[in-house]
Formats: sequence, C-alpha cells, structure tokens
Amino acid sequence: MRAVVLVGGFGTRLRPLTSHTPKPMLPVGHRTILESVVEQLARGGITEVVLALGFKPEPFVEAFPDGRCAGLPLVYAVEPEPLDTAGAIRFAAEAAGVNETFVVVNGDIVCDVDVSRLLAFHRNHGAEGTLHLTAVENPSAFGVVVLDHDGRVERFVEKPPPGTETSNLINAGTYVLEPSVIQRIPTGRKVSVEREVFPAMVADGSLYGMPTDDYWLDTGQPHLYLQANLDLLDGRRSHDGCDAVSTAASVAVDAVVRHSVVGAGAEVHAGAHVEDSVLLPGATVESGASVFGSLVAGRVAAGASIVNCVIGTDGVVHPGASLRDARVPNPTAP
Ligand code: GTP
Repeated sequence: MRAVVLVGGFGTRLRPLTSHTPKPMLPVGHRTILESVVEQLARGGITEVVLALGFKPEPFVEAFPDGRCAGLPLVYAVEPEPLDTAGAIRFAAEAAGVNETFVVVNGDIVCDVDVSRLLAFHRNHGAEGTLHLTAVENPSAFGVVVLDHDGRVERFVEKPPPGTETSNLINAGTYVLEPSVIQRIPTGRKVSVEREVFPAMVADGSLYGMPTDDYWLDTGQPHLYLQANLDLLDGRRSHDGCDAVSTAASVAVDAVVRHSVVGAGAEVHAGAHVEDSVLLPGATVESGASVFGSLVAGRVAAGASIVNCVIGTDGVVHPGASLRDARVPNPTAP
C-alpha cells in the first residue's frame, strides 16, 4: 500500500522557522515531523511513500540520501509549480504510477491514528474516499464534518457560529482514496482537495469519515508546533517520546532547562534559563538570557529575555533586549 505525503506547502504561518526549512523538516523532539509521519504510516502497513514536493524540495532529498525514511522507500515527485493539495495529489500519484487504493497524509500532522483501521473502514463501507476525523473543543473555529448514521459525509460546515454546531468533528488530514479520485482532479491549475474535490464527492455520496480519539495535532502554527514538542516530551504520544536535551547539545552546568526540548548542537550558556520552550538544532542562548514559551533556531544574546517568541535561524535577539510575542526576523517586514 502506498501513501502520498503532501510536503510542498510554504508554511507561512510558521515563519521565520520555515524561511529556510520546509515545515515537515522541522523537528518534533529530535527527529523531523516527516519521520514521525512516515513511521506512523509504516506502523499502519504502508510500504512506500511518495513525497509530493513543491516549495524547497532540496532539503528532503539531502536529508534522505539513500531514498529511505523511517525504513520506507521514498519516491520524489517535484511539482513544476505549486498545485495546491489536490493538484499535488494528482501530480504525485501519476508520477509514481499509483493505480490502486492509496493513502494521502498532510506532512505537518502528528498523530497516532492506526491507518490500517482507516483502510478497513474504507473497504467495509465501499467508499471512494475516507477521511480521518478528530473531535475539537471549539468547532466554530474550524470547518466541521457532518456524518450520517453510516459514517457517510453529509456535508461540510465552514466555521459554524457558536451554539449552532451540528458536529465537533474536523478533517484530520489523513485520507484513504480510490484511484478514481485522481480523475476527478482537474489539471493545469491549482485545485484544493478540501474546497473542490471532497465537496464533489459528498454530492455523489461517495465520501466517508472515520472519527478516532487518538492523539492528533496540526503543527502549522507556532503555539501548536511548540505543543507538539512538549507533548512528545511529556509522554502524551502512544508510540513515541523524547529526551529533553539532545546528547549533541551543550548546556552549562549552572544553566536551568525546565520542560523544554534542546536540539542537537544547541548551546545554553552559563546562568541562562530556558522553560516551556524548544531550542532547535543550532540555537544559542547566551549567558544570563531567559527564554520562556518560545521557539528558538537563532541566537538569544547575553542577558536578553524573550517570552512567547519565534526566533528564526537568522534571528538575533540583542544583548539585554526584552521581547514578548515577537518574531525575529519579522516575516512581515519588507
Ligand atoms: P501555511 O502556508 O502556513 O498555510 O502552511 P502550508 O503551506 O503547509 O499549508 P497547509 O497547512 O494548508 O497545507 C497542508 C499540507 O499540504 C502541508 O503538508 C503542505 O506541505 C501541503 N501543501 C499545501 N500546498 C501544497 C502544494 O501546492 N503542493 C504540495 N506538494 N503540497 C502542498
């Protein structure tokens, strides 16, 4: 069974972390989001992964020089231009010659769903497509999915006003699709699977949804990407966990690192304090600096203090500066 993993997006909401690194190549714990996605697919019986690449394909090819990720062989499908999610599925499926039931996953989702259960549900219902669904506490912030008694998708409701929600289930970003879905996707332009292809399948009564209550998180925004790391550290994942500090990191003996993930090559100098944060590989927190609730890939200079900040690889927080809710460099600046 093959899976297409969508990894070609721009990751704009995670900038500046994604200015040089595609989102699926950012770490959760001490490995990339993509490795965690592929490992979960392998657990569910997937035997080959087609990477649907667009924006910045090179880091993927460099990271897996033997063409394997988490034990599975990779096929690279590089779009000549961004085709959006459905366009990417068609391009990748055709490039890899997919002509049987296949799985599609967003490359920025960390979850513990058992893909073999999703496949069994799909086959038992004779579905053309099956969506993995997850329940959320605040459905009015999302597009929700309404199912009938048999698990068929009745309709999608975009951001239902509070109090009017008929469902708290959202699309969790893993799909089982029949090859007939590929023919539904128009060529030569961008096509969104969520906005065009799935609604057409609902109209034909061929789309189903299977809710599960496994761990699930979309890493697409800074606070959620931070949470994905801390959840792994806190042991909230079924099959996975991580050490707080990489063996290849350097933490001064009198520095304090509390409830944080410190990646390979990161440095925490004397008297620094790091709490509820992620220091990505190569980050530096200099002497006496403090870092709370932040994501740091760059440098926090001596005596600086940051709270709820995102510091990209090129980002420098100057000595003694105090920042809150900031992104450095600021991605909206010209
Ligand atoms: P934002 O820019 O922050 O919205 O992030 P994103 O670009 O990753 O978009 P989004 O989270 O909506 O995308 C969902 C998944 O589809 C991600 O895994 C993206 O990498 C992927 N994706 C989005 N657009 C494309 C595309 O045009 N081509 C390919 N190959 N993948 C895409």
